[in-house]
Amino acid sequence: MVQKDVMQINARQTRTIWLAEDGSGDVEVLDQTRLPHAVEIVRLRTLDDAVRAIADMQVRGAPLIGVTAAYGVCLALREDASDEALAQARARLLAARPTAVNLAWALNEMATAVQDHTQGARSAIAYARAAELADEDVAACEAIGDHGLGVIRAYAQRKGGGRVNVLTHCNAGWLATVDWGTALAPIYKAHRAGLDIHVWVDETRPRNQGASLTAFELGQEGVPHTLIADNTGGHLMQHGMVDLVIVGSDRTTRTGDVCNKIGTYLKALAAEDNEVGFYAALPASTIDWTLTDGLAQIPIEQRGTEEVTHMRGRTAGGDIVTIEIAAPGSPAANYAFDVTPARLVTGIITERGLAEASEAGLLELYPERAGVDAPKSRFGFMKGRITAPDDFDDLGREEIEALFNGES
Ligand code: MRU
Repeated sequence: MVQKDVMQINARQTRTIWLAEDGSGDVEVLDQTRLPHAVEIVRLRTLDDAVRAIADMQVRGAPLIGVTAAYGVCLALREDASDEALAQARARLLAARPTAVNLAWALNEMATAVQDHTQGARSAIAYARAAELADEDVAACEAIGDHGLGVIRAYAQRKGGGRVNVLTHCNAGWLATVDWGTALAPIYKAHRAGLDIHVWVDETRPRNQGASLTAFELGQEGVPHTLIADNTGGHLMQHGMVDLVIVGSDRTTRTGDVCNKIGTYLKALAAEDNEVGFYAALPASTIDWTLTDGLAQIPIEQRGTEEVTHMRGRTAGGDIVTIEIAAPGSPAANYAFDVTPARLVTGIITERGLAEASEAGLLELYPERAGVDAPKSRFGFMKGRITAPDDFDDLGREEIEALFNGES
């Protein structure tokens, strides 16, 4: 049985996504572009609303993107439950953001749930399956928390019960999932278990998910933490001020390569150089069993360069404003994710336990995936353009490639 609404804002327990209480079938989400300065709820009424919420990052974080996409299918099917509408919804949602595999995973789950049913039955089945996916995400994240607690306990014991310092990057907390989080779930569990824990929070340029979301979450839960500029981690590790790093992931290959927010790889390099444990915490929905080489095969999202040249924040007067921080017209680039090779990953914390970052390690926890073929190439990273995966042929390969490449 899933515990309802574990994390909280202003002492009120909440999730990141839920069905509107008026029974309309509309979906409500916390608008993460407004945090930490304002807690605002956005109502999603249509497929367009769901696509926009994902693309504009009102919702973000791999697991939450997946569940939002699932509800996006519901919103589409309640208007039109035909095969064509289902295919169009999948294609549009899939194209909203390319890196987090939870999106494609959730869309496949939804299609599998509804496709063999009559059009009249599809909408209700879709809503039921989306609710299950949300609850399953909460359960998986809580289990990640329990297994990760074991990891943190081991570090605490090694320090004779002294304070454990964890460094994290981006936001892989409850705001990135439905509840609990991935990288932060073990931290919440440790804090609630009474362990002395402190978190170094990377600000995470360019969108500052660490500063605006992770620090906010940890503050709401009362977990001791310190916000640091992105380039600080290496220095802290050199001086013994970090015991372990825990990050989330947007896509992890079957061989244990971990794709996560840009800058994660540099933290892993610094951790390796300083013999600091580097862990990725993720549910099975983040593992892409078809991929064997993260660097070659994972599509890396490139976002608008204004996210680099500009910053958003609150003025002393309370207004939320965007300011330019670069010389006007400066060329900029905005790669949203990078890949940390498995050799730099100490362990992968999953809902089934702690795995070695390798194919053998992951298959030990997920033996049912042993028979799944790993094609040589799924996505291509082609000069910033992305090609559609083979198993989406049924959706109209050309259409998906056009959507990915911004041609429609
Ligand atoms: O661009 P974002 O904010 O969606 O990126 C999020 C991350 O990189 C998270 O670390 C990842 O999705 C894991 S979330 C549990």
